[in-house]
Amino acid sequence: EVVYLNGRFVAPDQASVSVFDRGFLFADSVYEVIPYYRGIGFRLQQHLDRLVHSLRAIRIQANEDWAAILDELVQRNGGGSLSVYLQVSRGSAGYRTHTYDDRMQPTVFACTSPIRDIYGEGADQVQGYHVIVTADLRWHRCDIKSTGLLPNILVLQQAREAGADEALLVRDGLLSEGTSSNLFLVRQGVLYTPKRSSEILGGTTRELILELAAEAGIPYQEVDLRPEELATADEVWISSSTRGVIPVLSIDGEPVADGRKGPLWQKMFALFTCFQH
Ligand code: PDD
Repeated sequence: EVVYLNGRFVAPDQASVSVFDRGFLFADSVYEVIPYYRGIGFRLQQHLDRLVHSLRAIRIQANEDWAAILDELVQRNGGGSLSVYLQVSRGSAGYRTHTYDDRMQPTVFACTSPIRDIYGEGADQVQGYHVIVTADLRWHRCDIKSTGLLPNILVLQQAREAGADEALLVRDGLLSEGTSSNLFLVRQGVLYTPKRSSEILGGTTRELILELAAEAGIPYQEVDLRPEELATADEVWISSSTRGVIPVLSIDGEPVADGRKGPLWQKMFALFTCFQH
């Protein structure tokens, strides 16, 4: 196994970063998780566009040939189905200081981990999720994919300890998304998802699901969703690039509709797995 660090492909134990790196001290860094299925990056360009958005938003200047780096990393680790983690931090001043200098050299790190090939699976193999609903404790720039994930981690841990797989987050009376996934709700044949804003991450899988819905003539709306609406939903789904689209079977211990994978989910799953990304 090799990882990528600042221009070199090295064994993980040969890769080291300064203790003054601002990623370590302040979570002054952004990231992407990009699955490669059968050697091909899932929505690679969309992930890289989002990386550039995050970097610009926090004013880190890093212009690498990201696709070339990630493709080479995947090849060096045997190709196939791997999840790539890419992190860019602002770098180190050599001491701890809150303020930063625009000329700082960013730290670029990438590694891979094995993932399931969701394209090789049938709908029967997909495990539905059990979720909880809880307060969204995050900041107001959730469109930036920051490594400052403490609120996400604490809430996911709370979900796990309650025997659930994910937590749906609520802020100011509205559902935003999951701790690492976007949210969809189905009622009377219409697909609903929270509007894109700085309160959610613009998911690459969310975007693909909306594109597939448009092509297949499934009506959809980007709206404000209230947690009370979950109780009357016909279906609830979550999405992320490493998991695709997953049906939610229960929320806070109550089944969603009949507690089984819904028909629109079956349809979207079929569209999703046929899609050549
Ligand atoms: N998370 N919302 C949040 C808060 C996320 O962290 C993610 C992805 C998504 C889904 O985005 P996409 O469809 O582009 O994967 C939505 C990654 C997988 C992670 O943190 O590991």
